[in-house]
Order: sequence, then structure tokens, then C-alpha cells
Amino acid sequence: MESQILVIFGASGDLAKRKLIPALYELSQQDLLPEKFAVLGVSRSALSDEDFRERMTEFLPESRESSPDIETFLQRLSYFTLQTGEAAEYERLKRHLEELSAATGIPPNTIYYLATPPSLYEVIPRCLNAVRLCHSDEGFRRLIVEKPFGTDLSSAQDLNRNLLSYFREDQIYRIDHYLGKETVQNMLVTRFANGIFEPIWNLNFIHHVEITSAESLGVEGRGGYYDHSGALRDMVQSHLLQLVGLVAMEPPVVVEADAIRNEVLKVFQSLRPITPDQITKHVVRGQYIASTIKGDPVKGYRDEEGVNPLSRTETFVALKFFIDSWRWGGVPFYIRTGKKLPARVAEVVIHFKRPPRHLFQYEENALTNYNQLILRVQPDEGIVLKFGLKVPGPGFRVQTVNMDFHYDDLGNSHLPSAYARLLLDCMQGDATLFARGDAVEEAWKFIQPISDVFASGLDMPIYGYPAGTWGPEEAEGIVDDANWRYPCKNLSNDGTYCEL
Ligand code: BG6
Repeated sequence: MESQILVIFGASGDLAKRKLIPALYELSQQDLLPEKFAVLGVSRSALSDEDFRERMTEFLPESRESSPDIETFLQRLSYFTLQTGEAAEYERLKRHLEELSAATGIPPNTIYYLATPPSLYEVIPRCLNAVRLCHSDEGFRRLIVEKPFGTDLSSAQDLNRNLLSYFREDQIYRIDHYLGKETVQNMLVTRFANGIFEPIWNLNFIHHVEITSAESLGVEGRGGYYDHSGALRDMVQSHLLQLVGLVAMEPPVVVEADAIRNEVLKVFQSLRPITPDQITKHVVRGQYIASTIKGDPVKGYRDEEGVNPLSRTETFVALKFFIDSWRWGGVPFYIRTGKKLPARVAEVVIHFKRPPRHLFQYEENALTNYNQLILRVQPDEGIVLKFGLKVPGPGFRVQTVNMDFHYDDLGNSHLPSAYARLLLDCMQGDATLFARGDAVEEAWKFIQPISDVFASGLDMPIYGYPAGTWGPEEAEGIVDDANWRYPCKNLSNDGTYCEL
């Protein structure tokens, strides 16, 4: 891999120390970083190189003192104080980068990572451009942009337009950390490396598709941001629709960034819009209210710090929608996400059609006689196929059993963190697992009318659900002829109740 410098804007913030630096350390431990590689932290706080290194150790697996590897890794890090919003400051940054290049022998191959508040996403590229730091003439220059990519369709379009006036699309890497998850990438392999799934992956055999991303945590000190976002924009517009893209896409011709992203785009273009008059039938939103979990009182969302006490922001949303394509015509997709639910679980469940005729008696635990293929994103990463088995003994009674694979079974194989995978891909110039501008806009087109109704005042109900439950009961009503699954943290267990 080419020698390069990673410039992290917003380096004194949480993302750098919680995610980016630990991910880079993970790469370093696996010997995946280029031999010549430097990280330059940039932000407004006045820090020395040493202060910055010390801050960045907080989420590393061991302390500097106890691990010589960490100390060696930290020597790659340095820091530069910059009034990020002021164009006049960028000449200094340019000179500093030239000096860093000269001192380390790294050519001007540079990745800029925007780990700043979104208000700077347009400003920083403009300032970089003004001092000719965007051009890829001597070495490559790439830009990584964090979520949220816009707060609505028009701001996402504006942001794309602005970024594209300084960088080419192939220089822009829009992060969606769900695409960095090993289990999410494995969806492509499950579908396209096996001969048994793809022939039945369509409307002829699939009854419905269910996607859940549940969190047991609440807003955890991010109330100020979250209250202006809500579950629909925070999770569905990005992570959940990306999962839909991978589950629903056609096989790409080759495994290359544009081939795969073209197929994802087609899925988004085929999403049937949910019109305002259908919303109450297809969408349920909820907000957690105070309750008691395992004997401890838990506050409601409106009592969280930074949240408006009269807030109508959803902390839970469930949607039913259709993809108008030859593969999926008429197959309902159900997705739900929420905070303060009973478990942290993300999974995709393919529910296959029932056999055309019931021949046997079903045990009570055979909750459904749809075969289910469960692709677990996290935790207890793995895959389960649920099918009916004859209960041993007299007669023909059927119970549901599992055939399961857990990544743990692979022994000491390492599941890379999402940020490690994505940083590595960007360093290698591979944009396959990054969202392309047109797909982001298309996802917003689907979300916008729903978001408009949410914002339009009081005409759409928002249901309270006690923290620690599976969201408002009304969410049951949008699923036809089936029920939501109630997953547990252990992949093989399910049912309404499980250990929290
Ligand atoms: C982030 C959202 O993008 O994803 C958070 O802003 C959410 O609100 C997080 O908690 C969930 O990510 P993960 O990887 O824990 O499922």
C-alpha cells in the first residue's frame, strides 16, 4: 500500500479517540498499515503532540506503559492547532503538511477525515481547495465524510454539490459504518457465493423480509443532537436502508465499487414512496417513557439531558414498504429500530413462504411455519436457518428447530471493527463499502415525505413505550399475516422474553 498521511479534522472530539485511533491501532497490530504512515490530528484546541497522543490512548486496549506496541504506534501521531473555519489558516496547514512529508519521507498522498460537526463539512473542503490541497496531481487526495450526510433531501443535495465542486466523486468516501461490519459484507457472500439461496431469493419464495436494529442504550448524552434527528433520520435513512440495499440488490457483474453501488442505487430507485395518506398504516413511531428495568428506575426520553420536555422526536420507528422490481414486487419489507429496547440486536430475517398445504400438526413452539433465514449482524454474529422437524415418536407433529453457525465457531478468527475495515479500504482506494452520492440522495427521497409528516405538527400519533420493551404495541399492527421476531442477544434463542 502507498505511504500516506491521514489528517483527522475534529481530532480532539469523541470519534477520533473512541473509534478512529483504536481502529488504526487494530490495523497496526495486524501489520496492515503502510510502512510509512502518519496521522495528523487537527482541531481548534491548543494541544501539543504529546497531549494529543495521551488523549488518544483512552480507548486503546492497553496502556502506553504496559505495551511497547502502543508506544511505537503513538509515535505515528502528531497534532496541529487550526481555526478550522478560517480560510486564512489553511496556508499554515499546507506548509505543515509539506514539512511533515519532508520529515517522514511520505509523498503527498493524503486522506482528510471530517470528524467534525456537520456544519464544517462544506467549510473544510472549500478551505482546502483554496490552498490547492484537494487536487490529486502529485499524490492522491481523498476525503472521508462522516454521518449525518445532510439532515434532509435538499441539504444532502447541497452538500453533494458543494463537495463535488472541490473533489471528484471518486475522491469522496461517505462513511456508513454498518457497511464496515463483517456480517453485513457477508450478506453479499451468503447470497452470491452459494448456489442454494439465490434461486429462492425472490417474490416466488419469500413471504416478507424483516430488518431490526435494536439498541438497549438510550441517547447517552447525545440528546441535543438526537432530538433534532430521531430514529428515522439517525438510523433508517443510512444504516437500515444500506442493509435493504444489500439484501435486495441484483447480483453485480463484478465485485467493484461502481458495479455494486449501481445495484444498490437501483434498489433505492425502486422503493415505492409511502404517501402521506398511507403513513399511519405503514409507519409507527414511538418514544420511550420512564419505567423500571431489572428493579432500577429508568428515565423517559423527555427527561434526558438536551431533550425538549415536550419533544415529539421518535426514539422508535417501524416501517412497512415495498420494492417495485421484478424480484420483489408485492413482498413487504418491515424495518424497525429503536433505543431503550430489551436488547442490542441487529439482524435481517428472510421469511420464506409457507408450504401450500398443511399436512401436519404444529407444536405450540412452532410459532410460525415460515422457514426463516436469520442473518445476525450483531451480537453473537452468525446465521440461523429455522425449519420444521418431526417430533420423535408417534404421529406427525412438527416443531421448529435451528441449524446455526456462529462466528465464534471459527475459533480465533478475528472480526475486524467496522472502522478498521473502512479506513483500510479508503487507504487502498476501494470505495465499495462507502455510500455513493446518488444513492444517499435517493435514500433521502424515500425518507423525506415520511420525515415531513413527522415534522408537520400533531396529526400523526407518537406512541409512548416503556423503556426496556419492544416499542409501541401499534407496531404489531403493520405486519400482515406474521409477527415481528423477538430476538435475544444469543442468536439461537428467541421468544418474547429473554435475558436482558
Ligand atoms: C449511529 C447512530 O450512526 O449508529 C447512533 O447515530 C446509533 O444513534 C449507532 O447508536 C448504532 O451503531 P451500532 O454499530 O452500535 O449498531
